[in-house]
Amino acid sequence: MKKTFYITTPIYYPSGNPHIGHCYTTVACDTIARYKRWQGYDVMFSTGTDEHGMKIEESAKKAGKSPQEYVDEIAGRFKRLWKFMNVSYDRFIRTTDDYHKEAVQKIFKAIYDKGYIYKGEYKGKYCVPDESFWTESQLVGGKCPECGRDVIDAKEEAYFMKMRPFAEQIEKLLTETDYLQPRARVNEMVNNFIKPGLEDLCVSRTTFKWGIPVPFDPEHVVYVWIDALSNYITLLGYENGAHDDFGYWAEGAEIMHMTAKDIVRFHSIIWIAILSALDLPFPKRLYSHGWFNFEGKKMSKSLGNVVEPFVLGERYGVDCVRYQILRDMPFNGDFDYSNELMLTRINADLANNFGNLVSRTVAMIEKYFGGVLPENQLADCDADGELIALAGALSAKTDELIEIPHLSQALTEIFAVISRANKYIDETAPWLLAKDGANSPRLAAVLYNLTETVRICSSLLAPFMPETAVKVWEQIGAAPESVSYDKAGAWGTLPKNVAVKKGDIIFPRFDIEKELSELGRL
Ligand code: MSP
Repeated sequence: MKKTFYITTPIYYPSGNPHIGHCYTTVACDTIARYKRWQGYDVMFSTGTDEHGMKIEESAKKAGKSPQEYVDEIAGRFKRLWKFMNVSYDRFIRTTDDYHKEAVQKIFKAIYDKGYIYKGEYKGKYCVPDESFWTESQLVGGKCPECGRDVIDAKEEAYFMKMRPFAEQIEKLLTETDYLQPRARVNEMVNNFIKPGLEDLCVSRTTFKWGIPVPFDPEHVVYVWIDALSNYITLLGYENGAHDDFGYWAEGAEIMHMTAKDIVRFHSIIWIAILSALDLPFPKRLYSHGWFNFEGKKMSKSLGNVVEPFVLGERYGVDCVRYQILRDMPFNGDFDYSNELMLTRINADLANNFGNLVSRTVAMIEKYFGGVLPENQLADCDADGELIALAGALSAKTDELIEIPHLSQALTEIFAVISRANKYIDETAPWLLAKDGANSPRLAAVLYNLTETVRICSSLLAPFMPETAVKVWEQIGAAPESVSYDKAGAWGTLPKNVAVKKGDIIFPRFDIEKELSELGRL
């Protein structure tokens, strides 16, 4: 039986259109899912939308729609964007799906029956006209952040989940395993939340209706996190008959969650408490990446700086957008997105470096060997040792980096080999070797080595840039078996005599000034 691998994006709030920030997490998960499928895992890759809550209820009202109409429309936009971005998810969950609602009610009841949920009082700052509760820290200048009016101290009956019984296990998972990446976030969680004593979590509300009713007290709806986090197991079929995939959550199974740092606390503390209360195994990895800013500011609709992924993808190509966001988001930090950086990456890395390597290699085989890959009669001659060693060792490196997952570093490693191969062309000067006669064994060896490097790099790039990889394989004549996972680390496996074929330019170069001014006018 194949080993399983389960990877999840957060389920996004359908309160506004998806933007490039959501794209980052989803495309990063897609890349890992594709890499793991290629490695031979039985992969389940999930995404979806988190559709309940007061905010959605209000946004729907403002739009003059029922909450259901409103979420249907926006969930559809998320699905369209993932299709456009070539995201190969296996399952899209919506928290308004009946099977999810049924399972959440059972989960809530099970935790209640075990004595971890109790009824208490939620105290907070209340805005009477808005009918909404706020915490002290959410207030702006002591006033309601929504309408700017005065707030009063108020309380409301609510259910709470005890967190302290789980503190020790949570701390152990965070400090003694590699669960949370990057590791810098572990101290933040332990020092800011666990050491001061975990507070009980409010898990129900009565001030809005757009949610899943508490089964034994239907005046209450389940508040946010039990509903949202449970998606990771309900979509596998936990406590419902809609799916039969709970094997992906077995003890010891490979499970990876990805989120940005905004919800790391929920995934590293609250989710673990819920799983523990349900006696379920813990996931193996949570990677919480940094924040995507737009020219220094947090990207948000109200700031008017939301980068439209459809526009970028149509103008520059989906793979170029995928590449740039995956390459430039640092592993442990935030990223200042700019269109200029995107265009510079496309020109420098994709057109000038990778695109050039492929087109020069193919053009030289066409010119000197009539388009048929020659046999490397010199096999591993010393002069080529560095390139061969680098390309041959590349897949072992990317395998490790995908586990962490450190995607930008994986791309950096692949592009280091691509740069080395371009330098190798300058060093070996095939056009001079051709003067010794078109069939010189040295020229054949050089072109063979270049094609092998392109084969290895393009197969490792395929999970990041799926459409590009196919175009490259067509040009170098690589059949599917030549780009299988077991061949990625095996130098010299592309058979001689395959026919190469120059195709269209893979990456066009852009006039950056012109593009920036046009984008500014959109
Ligand atoms: N619904 C919750 C998540 C529940 S998961 C059980 C939620 N939704 S959200 O729509 O606000 O999505 C937050 C996630 O979207 C982030 O964790 C991140 O994955 C992604 N991002 C949204 N904007 C982003 C940036 N500007 N930068 C980086 N990630 C971004 O929280």
